[in-house]
Amino acid sequence: MENIEALNEIFSRGRVKTDQADLIHWGTDWTRSFEVAPQAVVFPERIDELVALVKLAREHSLKLVPSGGRTGLSGGAVASNDEVIVSFDRMNQIHAFNPTDRIVGCQAGVITQRLQEYAIERGLFYPVDFASSGSSQIGGNIATNAGGIKVIRYGLTRDWVAGLTVVTGTGDIIRCNRGLVKNATGYDLRHLFIGSEGTLGFIVEAEIRLAPGPKPQRVMVLGVNELDDILNLLQCFQQHVVLTAFEFFSELALQKVTEKGSVPRPFSEPCAFYALVEFDADADEEAAIAFEEALDRNWVTTGVISQSDAQAAALWSLRENISESIAADTPYKNDLSVRISEVPGFLSDVDGIVNKHYPDLDVCWYGHIGDGNLHLNILKPESLTIDEFFERCHRINPELFSLIEQRGGSISAEHGVGLLKREFLPFSRSDAEIGLMRGLKEVFDPSGIMNPGKLFSV
Ligand code: MLT
Ligand code: ZN
Repeated sequence: MENIEALNEIFSRGRVKTDQADLIHWGTDWTRSFEVAPQAVVFPERIDELVALVKLAREHSLKLVPSGGRTGLSGGAVASNDEVIVSFDRMNQIHAFNPTDRIVGCQAGVITQRLQEYAIERGLFYPVDFASSGSSQIGGNIATNAGGIKVIRYGLTRDWVAGLTVVTGTGDIIRCNRGLVKNATGYDLRHLFIGSEGTLGFIVEAEIRLAPGPKPQRVMVLGVNELDDILNLLQCFQQHVVLTAFEFFSELALQKVTEKGSVPRPFSEPCAFYALVEFDADADEEAAIAFEEALDRNWVTTGVISQSDAQAAALWSLRENISESIAADTPYKNDLSVRISEVPGFLSDVDGIVNKHYPDLDVCWYGHIGDGNLHLNILKPESLTIDEFFERCHRINPELFSLIEQRGGSISAEHGVGLLKREFLPFSRSDAEIGLMRGLKEVFDPSGIMNPGKLFSV
């Protein structure tokens, strides 16, 4: 009660919510499998309010959970332990644009799609894109170094962040890099906050670099019978065209999307797997050569190419709608990556695990295979409770993650660690690295108030 009164003093005009429905709404992300039990949600509008909040939290041992669009898949924004959720919904302004620098200044709560549209209106392009761009916020994207569907060409969120304003766990306001192209003045703290999952401080503003507007794009969906051939296909296309995207999905993933009825199959012939390839439309002829070569080598069985933007968007829906289409099956999500050269061996490792441990379960494969990133989703059968099912998948993780460790891969390519993967972090990061990460947390957040329990347990 005392805490709530103090919060009300900082966040006037009804910007503190404590109703159960609000706590549940703002206290969770798309994982849906963790307990949700925060004490309040607050809605800052200004940086000085966040500084005051950090001061209060340090004095009263309040735990703070930064909250963006809550589209995360690892529980990074889940509040399950009496925390105060700090929603950035009201810090959603784009406040500066400089056409010479091609840099946008925005607050953390700006929705990704809004930034994409803002860029298009100025003849430019914000190339980080994913299915949840209509709800995810820039601050959350930065906190997880979000990837998505165009990484093969444009890189990750990290590559577009030219500056960051952060309120640290000590209540200091720091402005990192300030939009500079060159800045050789020691540690680049900006990159520490990118991917830090809210454990070091609040990302409150960002300077985002924009790319030149892209050429018109063409999309192909190709049918593939053998998983291994997808990598042959990738190499084949890369020899002929500059790829904007190279994604894959399995027949089960396609079925889940088409069952919803809003988008038809790309062609009538069912295939074990599908590759979605995107490239500049002026490379049509080169892409046709790649396709013919792949046909000759039996790497593809059939394919379709977009003839209009509407058709390209429909083909993209086959890939982008997968996550939502399988949500009702309460999937256990694995977000794995290895170097691209390791992908063929890694696919056969994973296939072995799936056949050994999940012969009775539906396994839905898809992902950004051109980045070496595989989403392996195990679907919950009706016969198991959520707890039984998650417990079973968790038990198998050490075997799966050991294979990743042997290949020097990552147990979380782009979804983050959060609560879901924290106990498995040592499969991807050494003891020395984790020790240093804990040391950094101590420096930026000595009172342990910033998103405690995420990334590693307290
Ligand atoms: C995707 O690639 O569709 C997203 O990472 C979401 C997911 O893996 O479900
Ligand atoms: Zn993904």
